[in-house]
Order: sequence, then structure tokens, then C-alpha cells
Amino acid sequence: MRPRHFIADDDLTPQEQEEVLSTALRMKGDRFAFRPLDGPRTVAVLFDKHSTRTRVSFAIGIAELGGHPLVLDRDTTQMARGESVEDTARVLDRQCAAIVWRTFGQDLLERMAGLSAVPVINALSDLLHPCQMLADLLTVRERLGSPAGRTLAYLGDSNNNMAHSYLLGGVNAGMHVRICGPAAYQPDPGIVERSRELAARTGGSVTLTGDPVAAVTGADVLATDTWVSLGMENDGRDRETAFKGYQIDRDALAAAAPHAIVLHCLPAYRGKEIEAEVLDGPQSAVWDEAENRLHVQKALIAWLLAKGE
Ligand code: CP
Ligand code: NVA
Repeated sequence: MRPRHFIADDDLTPQEQEEVLSTALRMKGDRFAFRPLDGPRTVAVLFDKHSTRTRVSFAIGIAELGGHPLVLDRDTTQMARGESVEDTARVLDRQCAAIVWRTFGQDLLERMAGLSAVPVINALSDLLHPCQMLADLLTVRERLGSPAGRTLAYLGDSNNNMAHSYLLGGVNAGMHVRICGPAAYQPDPGIVERSRELAARTGGSVTLTGDPVAAVTGADVLATDTWVSLGMENDGRDRETAFKGYQIDRDALAAAAPHAIVLHCLPAYRGKEIEAEVLDGPQSAVWDEAENRLHVQKALIAWLLAKGE
């Protein structure tokens, strides 16, 4: 049987996404009761970029599922010396139950998934951060009930992985997704098109706007992300000037729905994309969101293994 992969948010149908979230809630309620990796079976977790949350949550989650996390940093592997993605896939998939990879281009994940006999999971690429999106959806569900029909407003770098995953993953869950950023930082047109097609089937919607007040007014969820994503540190662009006015601050929160929650995938830069009073305030759900990485990724691994075997 062909393995199921999760390298893009819409690799799960809306119903499958819902199954993973429901399983995550069950796993959260009984952390050590689910052991699909008993053996222990090994899951390789590869990092081409820095990480705290992803590294911690995958390593702990794989162990809690009864498995062995093999965490590898790129610089210590032969890939850093030029060994191909294809040859690496052929070595890993004979020994591992799944491959988790944080890397740069989405095309690299596609090449790995194209060849691997075991599930490949995107732990963040330049284009998408789908595991984070599952955690965000679980957090919405815990705080506000079903995400379907809820409005999420994202302010900031609208051309990064989180903006794209809010689009694809959000409309997959039937959300109304408003993306708001400056003209020079607009989402990938291909992702916008895919999201609009998906929204037409799920009852969600996509709105792109440059007006932060219009974006946040009445929203159920406010979200943002760093202005400088991994790998963009030295691109020479003046992001501080470009993103001025796109901060999630107390005024933005006051314009949102009274019950609104605030999400940020972290790491956060207080005083830049988000005001400290908001990140650390009572409507912030960011610590639940960070913990939920653990639960959704455990559910995802269990689900992918069950579907592909
Ligand atoms: N949110 C997130 O993916 O965090 P890390 O970069 O620390 O893994
Ligand atoms: N957009 C951010 C997310 C970090 C978790 C980045 O790619 O650095």
C-alpha cells in the first residue's frame, strides 16, 4: 500500500483533518495510553533549520507513542555534504516508521515523499507549516468549539509559511480566513487559488486585505507570526518599516469579537509583530497552542501509520 504523507495542509481531507483533531483530544486526555510505535519503532526527525517546539514535541510525542525518536541535525548528516534527498529517502525508509523533516523548499519534501515507502511529515518548510496549523485548529476547537464558520484574522508577513497554512488549513476546516499584510508581502498566488477552491467546498472563505482594521473587526481568532522567518535573516529587506501598522496590539484585540483568542506559533518578538500585553494577556492561547503541537503530531503519526499499512 502507498504511504500517506502530510507535507501540505490539504493532504488531509476536511473529514480526515477532523479525525486527527478528535484523536488528538483523546490522546491529550490519556497521554500514555496509545502505543502504535511499540517496538520501539523509530521515527527520523530531521532539522535543516533551528527549532525548539518542533524538536521537543516530536521527540516527546514519538516516545510517548512507544517509539524511538532519531533526531538528526542537517550539519551532522551526509546530506550536508551533498548526498541527495532520494538516496537519503531510500536509506531511511527501510529502517524508520516515518520521516519528519524541517527544511527549506517544499520541493525537497515532495521529492522525499515521492520516493519514501513510509509517511513523510512536513515539520515546516518555507512554504507551509501544517503541523503548527493542526495545533492551532485544536486550540480553536478547545477554546471556541468547532473551527467551522469561525473567522480568523492574520496580520503580518502574508508571504510566509504560517500565512499559507492559515489559508489552506483554515479553509479546510471551514474557517473564514482573512490575511492582512503589506503589498510586498502577499501570499503565494498558487496557495490562494488552492484555498479558494477548497473554501468553495467547505463553506469557508478567503479574504486578502491591506487594511488591518477591516481584517480584525469582529474576528474570533487573531493570529500573527514573526516578521523575519527562518532563512530570511539576511535578505536585506526592511521589514520593520514594511510591517509597521500590522502589529497585533490592544487596539486590534479590542476590535475583534469579545470572546476572541490570540494565536502565535512562537517564537514571538514582543513589541514587533505582537504587543507584550496581548501575548501575555488573558485572551492569549499561545501556551495551549504550543502544547497542542505534541498532541496533534502524536495523532497525526498514529493516523498516517494506520492509513498506510
Ligand atoms: N512554532 C514552531 O514551530 O516553533 P519552533 O521553531 O521552535 O519549532
Ligand atoms: N514563519 C516562521 C515560523 C517559525 C515557527 C519561520 O519560518 O521562521
